[in-house]
Amino acid sequence: MSYKQQYAQVLHDVIGDALSQEEIEQLIEQPKHEDHGDLAFPCFQLAKAFRKAPMMIATELAEKIDNPLFSNVQAAGPYVNVFLNREVVSREIIKRVLEEQQAYGSSEPNGKTIVTDFSSPNIAKPFSMGHLRSTVIGNALNQISRKKGYEVVGINHLGDWGTQFGKLMVAYNMWGKEEDVRSEPIKELLKLYVRFHEEAEENPGLEDEGRAWFKKLEQGDEQATALWTWFREVSLVEFSRVYEMLGVSFDSLNGEAFYNDKMQHVIDLLEEKDLLVESEGAMVVDLEAEGMPPALIKKKDGATLYATRDLAAAVYRLETYGFEQAFYVVGGEQALHFKQLFAVLKKLGFENVDGMHHVPFGLIMKDGKKMSTRKGRIVLLEEVLQDAINVAKQNIAEKNPNLANAEQTAREVGVGAVIFHDLKNERMNNIEFDLEQMLKFEGETGPYVQYTNARANSLLRKGAYDGSAFNGSADDYSWGVVSMLNQFSAVIDRAFTRREPSIISRYVLDLAQSFNKYYGQVRVLEDDAEKQSRLALVKSVTIVLTEGLRLLGVGAPEEM
Ligand code: ARG
Repeated sequence: MSYKQQYAQVLHDVIGDALSQEEIEQLIEQPKHEDHGDLAFPCFQLAKAFRKAPMMIATELAEKIDNPLFSNVQAAGPYVNVFLNREVVSREIIKRVLEEQQAYGSSEPNGKTIVTDFSSPNIAKPFSMGHLRSTVIGNALNQISRKKGYEVVGINHLGDWGTQFGKLMVAYNMWGKEEDVRSEPIKELLKLYVRFHEEAEENPGLEDEGRAWFKKLEQGDEQATALWTWFREVSLVEFSRVYEMLGVSFDSLNGEAFYNDKMQHVIDLLEEKDLLVESEGAMVVDLEAEGMPPALIKKKDGATLYATRDLAAAVYRLETYGFEQAFYVVGGEQALHFKQLFAVLKKLGFENVDGMHHVPFGLIMKDGKKMSTRKGRIVLLEEVLQDAINVAKQNIAEKNPNLANAEQTAREVGVGAVIFHDLKNERMNNIEFDLEQMLKFEGETGPYVQYTNARANSLLRKGAYDGSAFNGSADDYSWGVVSMLNQFSAVIDRAFTRREPSIISRYVLDLAQSFNKYYGQVRVLEDDAEKQSRLALVKSVTIVLTEGLRLLGVGAPEEM
């Protein structure tokens, strides 16, 4: 039970039935100023039932409350303010962290499932900065959801279907070389794709050929299927390297192609409900009443679209996973697509549409301009991560030349810096990509949090922490740390409901900061009777920082 809940219970005992314990809990506030205590209850709502002025009620209630949990109870105008007994409470909180370890802040499994559609790059194209954001945000949301007790199915909805594959086949058959594609798949395939478009300007017949090859593919033609399978495989090998560097994995790689044989089912459903109308030869779902342009389901030539595949995917996922919620971690440019998707599903009478959420995010900018993976510089993302690792390696070599696990640590710090930088601000904000800034050991960076955690770990080693409990402490610095530790589960809650990993990033920054204040003021390793007790607090900090970083997908080296 949280302290707020405990206060609500205490209040309920003295108030009686005028308000339920839950109503009381809703009303309890956290005072803006520490002089007003840790929790405050406003008495306005009781005025009617008690036929008294709120100020008088507050005075009476304050007199009646007597509980060891509170060191002080005061009426301040219409509020009843309580001060938590720091010694008692800090002992309890640290005890819980030490007992529960990395499970601290976790909720019990709730038997519900969340399906996350994230990363989802397009085959045969470079992994873009937008896909990097989707990967990192989606991965964090998955960890946060699991922490909240959900079963999570992470799906990489690969862009592995569409007319572009027909074009690619034509280009490959005309100009491609197998060895080249084998050695640098994405670079070569992109080259072929670009060349196709250049040549098609002179020779429009190529476009028809591309369409014909895609048709072959859709009909299961052997040669077309073999090429497609190969393009997909070699692309995935490249993507996997990035995923491995980021430490991200998926439960399913069912991309768009997977829904090839599942679209007719949805089209039948739409027809049954009389939702398909013809428009200029194409089949659409009219969304005028919803204030949106119509959703295009089938093109004039019978070809299905991105939206058709997303409809099929939603139906398939509900049938297969029975999800309570579905997150689509996709850039803001696709907002209309998802609104239309959800609107069509609603018209179909689909359950759970209210649990489906587009989770958009802002752009990655470089010097104020949208950063993109330009032609010719396609392995960019891998390079970016490698650069970050190299800079981290240099930093480590300067600060700690004898570090045992330098290689692995540099990876955790370098990649962690990029991830943390992405998740530091609310996801809708644009991000300025600045490697030097990200890798700083001071300021709001991943390395700052990691370094704080490593320092705490080194205190535990130097002081030979023996697993002792915390004896409780009332000083402001300990209390600053302890009250941060106490907030962890509420923070996870908020990050989950708002689908906002930055709430966790802010939290680990604040916790790191409160610990650094503590460390600056308190002589942790002083050889006195309280040393092991202080180390218990330090240990709790490492547990929660490590777990907070893990939720973000960032490693927490014990030494750096
Ligand atoms: N491949 C798409 C793109 O790069 C993103 C797919 C997102 N997921 C989805 N179910 N539509 O734009």
